[in-house]
Amino acid sequence: MSAPKTYVLAIDQGTTSTRAMVFDRDGTVIASDQIEHEQIFPRAGWVEHDALEIWDNTRRVIGGALGKANLNSGHIEAVGITNQRETTVVWDKADGRPIHHAVVWQDTRTQGLVDELARDGGLDRFKEVSGLPLATYFAGPKIAWILDHVEGARERAEAGELLAGTMDTWVLWNLTGGGENAGVHVTDVTNASRTMLMDLKTLSWDEATCEAIGVPMQLLPEIRSSSEVYGECKPGVLNGTPIAGILGDQQSATFGQACLTPGSAKNTYGTGNFMLLNTGSEIVTSDKGLLTTVCYQLGEEPAVYALEGSIAVTGSLIQWLRDNLGFIKGAPEVEQLAGSVEDNGGVYFVPAFSGLFAPHWRPDARGAILGLTRFANKGHIARAALESTAYQTKDVLDAMQEDAERAGGRLTELKVDGGMVANDTLMQFQADVLGVDVVRPKIAETTALGAAYAAGLAVGYWGSTDEIVDNWAEDQRWSPSMDEDEVARLHRNWTKAISKTLDWVDEDVV
Ligand SMILES: Nc1ncnc2c1ncn2[C@@H]1O[C@H](COP(=O)(O)OP(=O)(O)OP(=O)(O)O)[C@@H](O)[C@H]1O
Ligand SMILES: [Mg+2]
Repeated sequence: MSAPKTYVLAIDQGTTSTRAMVFDRDGTVIASDQIEHEQIFPRAGWVEHDALEIWDNTRRVIGGALGKANLNSGHIEAVGITNQRETTVVWDKADGRPIHHAVVWQDTRTQGLVDELARDGGLDRFKEVSGLPLATYFAGPKIAWILDHVEGARERAEAGELLAGTMDTWVLWNLTGGGENAGVHVTDVTNASRTMLMDLKTLSWDEATCEAIGVPMQLLPEIRSSSEVYGECKPGVLNGTPIAGILGDQQSATFGQACLTPGSAKNTYGTGNFMLLNTGSEIVTSDKGLLTTVCYQLGEEPAVYALEGSIAVTGSLIQWLRDNLGFIKGAPEVEQLAGSVEDNGGVYFVPAFSGLFAPHWRPDARGAILGLTRFANKGHIARAALESTAYQTKDVLDAMQEDAERAGGRLTELKVDGGMVANDTLMQFQADVLGVDVVRPKIAETTALGAAYAAGLAVGYWGSTDEIVDNWAEDQRWSPSMDEDEVARLHRNWTKAISKTLDWVDEDVV
């Protein structure tokens, strides 16, 4: 009997759902399963997840994906994990129970702590070490918030009874046995680079920053590369299979898009939008509102860095039109609704629901629909919502071009992926607004694929990153076709709309 054909399985623990995907050597999806989890909004600006629900879903989607393709542990050579970044959970080491819901990356509850920290040294106080400006987005202050708001948590943390981590760490710890079987408490460099607590140069926790933010270091996972064997799956799911890759979702998509040389970039259109530019082994800092972050590190090799433009609200605005306004029944319908009007009718929608991220970093902004007249209808609002994704992306790309030149050359095309790239109207408008080609790859599941590659490389399933490059193939390309003066006019109006949303949050706004 010949040996069974083998595969790599990736777990994509996202903001809205958890997926498991089985890939073969060509990067083709053999089977997948996906379960959404509850978005908990306890009050304005707060977003939470139930980490136990997420772990339960993780187990179920692994079983689901294997079952669909009639596979078992013996067919899977390695497991990779990719995850929504920054979302933070603190749990009891002994029984594995979170002491609080996970605090999600979009959550703004740490604003008070961020303001307090900024009083001494400004918003760039930790930028030199961590690559990040002070913002509610990052994980470190979220850990401190949980410790300060759950009774007795700080004492228990200092006594070594608790563990903290981002979702990669939570999934890995549970997969490797959890409380009963001494689960592995590890994160990778990309996730660690989103806490504000890691030194980008040494790739280790920075003691002074941890102390300033109020995070006891014994709570933190060990930082390892993105591609190595961290441990193996304990009985229950995938007995004995090595877990060998971890990448934060955006870094994973960058890896899955084969952006492996300095100057290459991708933009992912999901819940939010995230553009990453590979800058090689050089740590490039931006004075235009981009973050410096770790792109990936393969085993013992030097870390590869990236510049990132993070946009908080893009696809989630379409979900908001669906869930909060009832304009559409499903996200794809937005294309039809936006197509029911000729143009935006003078309407602009700035979705500053969590303030504005890159390149503005204005926590005091809030969402607004501008330019409304009696003429405006649902179609115009839907169109303005879609257009906002393209304008926000232009602002980030403009901020990135200069740095791109230093890293390898101006971007002449943009590789895209994520749920929204199914929207042809948006992609054409995006190319128009950017003035460069927008290119979608054949394998659209780049986030899961990146983690699969990281895991497969560590166990020799793929021999080298050359195979990643060989597997990448173009599916569709959109080229700019709109009149340049019209693009410039639209963008001027967008910039004006942004200016109207600033300074909204003050002591009267809760
Ligand atoms: N045809 C479409 N037009 C516009 N937006 C769409 C369309 N289809 C999906 N979306 C949006 O894409 C998003 C889903 O994309 P994707 O699955 O890549 O998200 P994600 O950010 O990876 O989610 P998660 O964070 O849970 O992993 C949703 O916010 C949805 O509103
Ligand atoms: Mg995702």
